Amino acid sequence: MKHYTSINDIENIQSWIQEAKALKRNPLNYKDLGKNKTLGLLFFNSSLRTRLSTQKAALNLGMDPIVMNVSGDAWGIEFGDGTIMNGNTAEHIKEAAAVVSQYCDIIAVRAFPTLTDKEKDESEHVLKSFVKYASVPIVNMESATGHPLQALTDAITISENAKKERPKVVLSWAPHIKALPHAVANSFVQAMQKMDVDFVVTHPEGYNLNPDIIGNSTVNYNQEEAFKDADFVYVKNWSNYNDYGKVLNTDPNWMITKEKLGNAKFMHCLPVRRNLIVEDAVLDGENSLVIEQANNRTYAAQLVLKKILEDLK
Ligand code: CP
Repeated sequence: MKHYTSINDIENIQSWIQEAKALKRNPLNYKDLGKNKTLGLLFFNSSLRTRLSTQKAALNLGMDPIVMNVSGDAWGIEFGDGTIMNGNTAEHIKEAAAVVSQYCDIIAVRAFPTLTDKEKDESEHVLKSFVKYASVPIVNMESATGHPLQALTDAITISENAKKERPKVVLSWAPHIKALPHAVANSFVQAMQKMDVDFVVTHPEGYNLNPDIIGNSTVNYNQEEAFKDADFVYVKNWSNYNDYGKVLNTDPNWMITKEKLGNAKFMHCLPVRRNLIVEDAVLDGENSLVIEQANNRTYAAQLVLKKILEDLK
């Protein structure tokens, strides 16, 4: 595999899940694969799990990770083609990506959306610029529209915890006070579309995700109906897609409670705001998988890095 920028880079998710489970059983089985190779992690935005689990994954493979907070610590990067750089940006992505490629064998990038310019966000200009101008493989650590390392993690976690062959999985919107990206929800939808699950998405009317991503997946505006007989409830807030990036609904009735959840397992990518998205009783209860999910971030990242390392010339 050359780059990992989207969940669609996975050809066979079932075989990837089995490989990730094997890595989890023996994390140091390939500890020499990445010897003398460097992973550069570039963060344009904050992170706890992605930052640490991706480094841990690299270390398990014998790689040397180096990390940079690009926003704030690096020169402001210009992404526009032909721009007269007389504003706040000091270095063009053409030079920046080429330079970092000399220091790193793989570059991982986190760059969130603007949530103000839909066209720019959907063009994935930051991630795609790295793919275009770097000479080494690129890993998406959450871009404007996708979080494929998280989605692979979520697929692994569902597979590990499924008690039946075709579990019912519900993706539910929940309220939040801030405008949040669509990336986690988008990639989760795409992952579930590749899995053998009974998949339902529930959100308030008008809060649809990108129709090109939802495709034929079932959408039910009634959360109670959607949750009926659910085995897994995956919860995420996203800002409005149509009135792009706006917070038009903070209805607390969409918060996840223990009563609503019933016997279903609770999933969230974290970080999560307690008693806004989900009540304490759920996160502190035995049906919460969030800590297990966060643990699986290491093995999802390790599998992606392993596949890229195996294909490095
Ligand atoms: N889920 C996730 O990506 O967590 P961080 O933002 O802390 O990396």
